[in-house]
Amino acid sequence: NRLLGGLPAATFLRRHWQKQPLLVRGALPGFSGFLDLGDMIDLACSDHCESRLVVRGADRWAVEHGPFERKRFSRLPARNWTLLLQGLEQMLPAARQLLSRFDFIPYARLDDLMLSYAPAGGGVGAHFDSYDVFLLQGPGRRQWRVGRPRDLALVEDAPLKILKRFSPDGHCLLHAGDMLYLPPQFAHEGVAVDACYTYSIGFRAPSHRELVSQFLIFLEERLNGDGGGRYSDPDLSLQRHPAQLGERMIAKVERILRDISWTQRDVTEFLGGYLTEPKPHVVFAAPRKPLSEIAFSRASRRDGVELALASLMLYGKANLFINGEHYEMNKVLATPMRLLADTRRLAGNRIASNAPLTAMLYRWYRAGYICLSKS
Ligand code: SIN
Ligand code: CO
Repeated sequence: NRLLGGLPAATFLRRHWQKQPLLVRGALPGFSGFLDLGDMIDLACSDHCESRLVVRGADRWAVEHGPFERKRFSRLPARNWTLLLQGLEQMLPAARQLLSRFDFIPYARLDDLMLSYAPAGGGVGAHFDSYDVFLLQGPGRRQWRVGRPRDLALVEDAPLKILKRFSPDGHCLLHAGDMLYLPPQFAHEGVAVDACYTYSIGFRAPSHRELVSQFLIFLEERLNGDGGGRYSDPDLSLQRHPAQLGERMIAKVERILRDISWTQRDVTEFLGGYLTEPKPHVVFAAPRKPLSEIAFSRASRRDGVELALASLMLYGKANLFINGEHYEMNKVLATPMRLLADTRRLAGNRIASNAPLTAMLYRWYRAGYICLSKS
């Protein structure tokens, strides 16, 4: 596997993933990226792309969030700034294709593809991320300094995460096509040597706090769905002090709370929904003039279908998740749906004469979750 410098993916996972950085020279030889600064500015000025501009002043950092006015980019200094775009895979087929090279990591862990541009001297400072990241160098060169997790104290009152003290253990100069993998918490600082583009393939790892709070929300909706009971006390006996919170009331409530329970099935449904939930600014474009179900069925058998760029799809043994929605999996759906989720496309001959499949695909087509492949 050239992308991993000749390491088999399983070896990479064992030795490096979440453990050790890895520098790969020529991971994607001749990689020239797929956007230039002009394209990036177009995206930074649109509502559909999450963008940030980081400018380094004499003694402070400034961060601005998009969407930007075009004229903002004509007033930038010659050096020391960075433009960052998030979630490129939701907009560009080439970005999706690049991400697919990293499918030795489960999609459930994948976050997004970020692109940064910086003129010479630009960078976002010494920091650490809470996520695994592959930093793939596009055109231009960037000097990286990297340090083991040691002192994670951050500069106070800075608009972005900047390490108070950074003591690098090593450095490397990345050329186009080189790649640096960093596990979470490794300190790093990348400074553009020339005008340079860096593609970051980022992975997500929700905090326990996030998982717990989201699960509790999920659970609450589920309990509401059950109708639920209500506190009752037909056994209420006369209480001498009306302000006293009675032992019996506490015990009753404790019993109600103890009865909250969940199964692995609930956890699966929660996790699938949570991980495929679209990011806030994502909108799915439903077809303006949708085909009828019959016409769609015919066209899909001929051309096949593919997931819309922004769609997120996962599956479990008996479940199917797409963009936060949950469906039961069954025998008829299993093979084609898994193929669609794994490869993001489904050939026409896989759809032929499968009525339940066509019905579900049609529903997703109307929602803008999938589209017909261009033949
Ligand atoms: C960058 O591309 O400038 C920053 C990427 C990172 O440090 O995570
Ligand atoms: Co970083």
